[in-house]
This record gives sequence, structure tokens and C-alpha cells, in this order.
Amino acid sequence: MNIRQLMAGVALAAFTVGPAQAEDVEVLHWWTSGGEAAALNVLKEDLQGQGIGWVDMPVAGGGGEAAMTTLRARVTAGDAPTAVQMLGFDIKDWAAEGVLGNLDDVAAKEGWDGVVPAALQFFSKHDGHWIAAPVNVHSTNWVWISKSALDATGMDAPTTWDELIAVLDAMKANGITPLAHGGQAWQDATIFDAVVLSLGDDFYKASMIDLDPDALGGEKMVEAFDRMAKLRSYVDDNFSGRDWNLASAMVINGEAGMQMMGDWAKGEFLRADKVPGEDFVCIRFPGTQGAVTFNSDQFVMFDVAEGGDAQKAMAAAVMNPTFQSAFNVVKGSVPARTDVPNSDFDACGKKGMADLADAGSNGRLFGSMAHGHSVPASVKNAIYDVVTAHFNGEYDSAAAAEELVNAVEAAQ
Ligand code: GAL
Repeated sequence: MNIRQLMAGVALAAFTVGPAQAEDVEVLHWWTSGGEAAALNVLKEDLQGQGIGWVDMPVAGGGGEAAMTTLRARVTAGDAPTAVQMLGFDIKDWAAEGVLGNLDDVAAKEGWDGVVPAALQFFSKHDGHWIAAPVNVHSTNWVWISKSALDATGMDAPTTWDELIAVLDAMKANGITPLAHGGQAWQDATIFDAVVLSLGDDFYKASMIDLDPDALGGEKMVEAFDRMAKLRSYVDDNFSGRDWNLASAMVINGEAGMQMMGDWAKGEFLRADKVPGEDFVCIRFPGTQGAVTFNSDQFVMFDVAEGGDAQKAMAAAVMNPTFQSAFNVVKGSVPARTDVPNSDFDACGKKGMADLADAGSNGRLFGSMAHGHSVPASVKNAIYDVVTAHFNGEYDSAAAAEELVNAVEAAQ
């Protein structure tokens, strides 16, 4: 055997062993709560089982704002991580900068075009090329209610705004904090998603997606802010700055009656061994039944000099149907592909999957403003500022609606 044949043999051996085994993925993410970390472990273990090493780059902070700031610094320093958890329009912004890798090969091989819903593909593709692998679909218009606190009111789970207020009042009368909330802009905005949607699909679309100034500054928006102010009256004095998972813990341990939060909150309940229907109740925010404000965590692969094969292996692993079930059962979200059976999901997960499919086929599926799926970050942050300032009493509702028009216009 001459040297050329020998080298060819070595190259072939390296290829068949699987290049991923020689590589790690460095993953930047914000999954640091108990429930999130449990879900992340499902991913880590899955990859490790395939010989892909995991270098952890956690940046705490729900909603991912802090993670995105860290990401910007890393990329500016010429040191992009191999894979990054990212939401909606942030993916589009990074793609436009031309710094992302291309997942077309793995997508074609695994048939992603046929199984990923169009609403997600809108964010996973840039100029027709796959640039991200969606791991889940979350939605923000959920309420997580303590079953014992609800039973103590003698009422049913609320289906309308008025019923919601009646339950919150009864919880207050029973001596608990009715609404567990953390005063952080993204959490205020998460409730705002649901409140705006509760005033109509058309209103949500016109204000949060189309950014129509008439909707942003009109009477319905004043009503939305009035509803926010009403909800504000049910939180405890220590809400400011509290992390979302600590608010979930208040419901879990009986200190508070309910939390209005995306379905990542369910991950906290499950982690505390709480059972849907027995210990807690999941409902759509009253007045939003049948509609869904969604966000999808996607793994975006940066164009890096080394680690490309591990990136592809990770993308394929993330999209594997068995993995999508195992991961989302723990995370509280639902699969990002349409062909995953619901058999392993609990009642809330089954409802989440059915709601997503129905909302999608009925034209009632909308990107979450709070979680980067309705408008780019610049506009999202402008909305955050107004919503939070109003929530903290800096504006009355009429002034907030007016300010919203100005802030959104200035941000575009
Ligand atoms: C969302 C993200 C979820 C969850 C949540 C709280 O933006 O999509 O996966 O992590 O933030 O951290």
C-alpha cells in the first residue's frame, strides 16, 4: 500500500467513524431554572449518547435578553458559539448579518420541509435556506392555577375576564396572593400578550403584528392597559425583579393562586412532582380560548471554522421525533414537528398540541410579541418599555396607549 492509499484509508476511516465524535458543541442558552435545566439534560444526554461533547454556556435571564447581549459580545469578538438558543425575529436579524451556517443538507436528508409547520419555517429559513433547528413550540396565553386555591374559592376555572376577576377577588379574600408575578419587563410583556389577545384576534394582529397606529393608540388599547392595571392590583408587594420560576414556586407551594405565564412554567410544576388536574389546572387566558400566541426555541448554528459536523449532528438530533417527544414532555412545550404522537404528554401537553393544530388551521395562530415572534427586537423593546412603565404606575392607561404609538414609531 503506497502512502496515498494509506492516507485515503485514514480519511475514509475518519469519515465513517463520524466526524461529530471528534467535536464538541458549545451551546449558548438561558435554560437555567429547575424545569429548564431538566429539559436541557435530556438534550445533553441525547447528544452525549451520540458522541457529541457539550460545552455549556448558560446566561441566566428568562426570555433570553441577557443571553442575546452576551451573544452580541461574543460575535463581535470573533468568537461565536457553535449553537445558540434563539427566538423568532432575532434569528432573522442574525441571518441578515450573514454570519449563520447552512443546514440545508441535514434538512433535506431528514425531510424537515414536510414536518415543520410553516409558521416556524418562517423563522428557521433565510432566503430559502435552513439556518435553525426548532426544538419546540411554547405559547404565552396560559394561566397556571393552584387546584387547592381554586377549590377554596368554590368557583370553576375562569373562562371570561369577569370570571377571572371574581376568582382573583375570592383568592384575595382567602388570604393568599392571588397573582404570582415577577416584575421584569419580559414577564409584564408576557401577560400583555394574553391581555391584548383577550380583546380579539383582530386587535392582537393589528396592534402587535401589523403595528397599526390606530390599534396601538385606540380605545381597545386603553382597555388593555386598564386590564393590566387591574391585574397589577393582585400581585404582592415584593414582585419587583422576581424571577419567573420563583413566581411559579409561589403557586406550587400554595402562597399564591395563579401565574400567567408561558408553558415553560409547567416544567417547574412537573419538576416539583405536581400533577395537572390534581395539583394544578392549566387554562388558556380567559377570552383567548382557541387562539395561540406562540414562540419557538430554535438552535441557530453560527458559521464557525471548526465544529460544522457536530452542528449538523446536533441539528439532526434536535429534530428527531423521539427526542422531540422526550424533551418537550419535560420542558412544558410541544413538538416543533407535526408528526410526533401525543401519547407521552400529560393533559396540559395534549391540550397544547391540539390547541396549536387548531389555531394553525383556523387562522388563530399568532407570533408572541413578548417572546420575539411578532416584531423585531427593536420594536419589541420599545413595547416592553411602555408596558412596564405603565405596570409600575408611571403612565395612566390613556397616556400609555399614546406613548405606545410614539415608541413603536420611533423604533421602526
Ligand atoms: C422563553 C423561552 C422558553 C423559556 C422562557 C423562560 O423565551 O422560549 O424556552 O426558557 O423564555 O426562560
